[in-house]
Amino acid sequence: MKIQAINGFKDILPDTIDRWQYIEQRARDIFARFGLQEIRVPILEKTELFVRSIGEATDVVEKEMYSFPDKGITMRPEATASIMRAFIEHGLHVQQPVQRLYTIGPMFRHERPQKGRLRQFHQLDAEIIGATEPLVDAELIAMGQMLLDELGLHTSLEINSLGCPVCRPPFKALLVAFLKQHHTDLCDDCRRRTHTNPLRVLDCKQATCRAVVQSAPSLLDMLCRDCDDHFQRVGQALHHFDLDFQINRFMVRGLDYYTRTTFEFLTTALGAQAAVGAGGRYDGLIEQLGGPALSGIGFAMGLERLALLMEQQSTQKYTASFMDIFLIALGDNALNACSRLAHLLRKNGVKTAIDYAGRSLKAQLKQANRINARYSLILGEDEWLQHEAILRNMHTQEQQPFALTDTPEEWCSRLADIIGPAPQ
Ligand code: HAM
Repeated sequence: MKIQAINGFKDILPDTIDRWQYIEQRARDIFARFGLQEIRVPILEKTELFVRSIGEATDVVEKEMYSFPDKGITMRPEATASIMRAFIEHGLHVQQPVQRLYTIGPMFRHERPQKGRLRQFHQLDAEIIGATEPLVDAELIAMGQMLLDELGLHTSLEINSLGCPVCRPPFKALLVAFLKQHHTDLCDDCRRRTHTNPLRVLDCKQATCRAVVQSAPSLLDMLCRDCDDHFQRVGQALHHFDLDFQINRFMVRGLDYYTRTTFEFLTTALGAQAAVGAGGRYDGLIEQLGGPALSGIGFAMGLERLALLMEQQSTQKYTASFMDIFLIALGDNALNACSRLAHLLRKNGVKTAIDYAGRSLKAQLKQANRINARYSLILGEDEWLQHEAILRNMHTQEQQPFALTDTPEEWCSRLADIIGPAPQ
């Protein structure tokens, strides 16, 4: 029996990798413009890290983690917790009071696979740690928006505030009382959540629950003065950066560490998977994990979702992978000379392909087109005897003689001059 990939775990094949690399390059470029530095954290962490940060009563921790219970470790379902662990472990705040970090890599959640929803998926994750100012919230959101714009994607932005330990508990109490009154209209999950994680009821997708929460109390009406002021100032700053956004008072997010600002970049183009990226503030998290009392804000975008959206929406031109030259050798002498030439060209930074199987000229030209070669050098036995190959521009089809009178080192440097630098 053939062995196939596990459900929800997907190969990213060479024909889509150009898009992936383009997205990653664009992200790295924009993150650098905002002063973010890359951090790479392990895929496996102690399970306790995720339980304590994401929250025991969240879907992620309750049912979606890939854990090894006998070893007490888990494959990371997201990157924020790991970055905070590393931040605390290495005392990064001592080196620099405000840390701006990003990471790119695979995450693991045991969800039901669908279009745009995988069990191994990839995130671009950005975090600014050690800053509380509302301008920082707006700047981080603007950075995410800039990436989506530069990728040529059309998304909408929604924001909300989840308050703080001062204003959230009284709101929670009021919400629980309200939900208890409407107990019979809630789905089974939300009846349970009323006691374990009542805020999650606000973003339940079931029609009956949605109808109930329309008249639920809103945390935005109960924010303490500091949180309200913070939220107003984030909104003003977003206007200042010319960002369009909507306030969504039902947005609660699926991870428990959030405080104050939360936001989501949404699309209607991916069916049920509306969020292309999402994030928010997590002011108590670092302290809760045993670190200093520093606040933070961040977001993550799903690379699979960005790649799917780009396929549908983007007119952005990105350089497809290509080869500079394909060496077509026909006959043993030609092949010997070309293999040495290929080695020299590669040493000199020229992307060079060569076929060792002795296929026909037609087959090799076809292959040169398939791999998007800019030039091909054709060297048959006759050409070999006459010391003159044919250099063909694969885009214009123009051909010119290429003298082989001197050494392969000379051929190499003349070829590199003719080919010139690769297109950007
Ligand atoms: P999240 O909302 O759980 O937040 O995930 C962020 C993004 O990851 C989603 O908007 C989506 O694009 C992508 N994503 C999540 N789950 C899947 C999946 N199963 N398949 C494909 N894509 C998925 C976080 O992970 C937070 N750590 C974000 C954050 C950073 N908050 C503060 N800092």
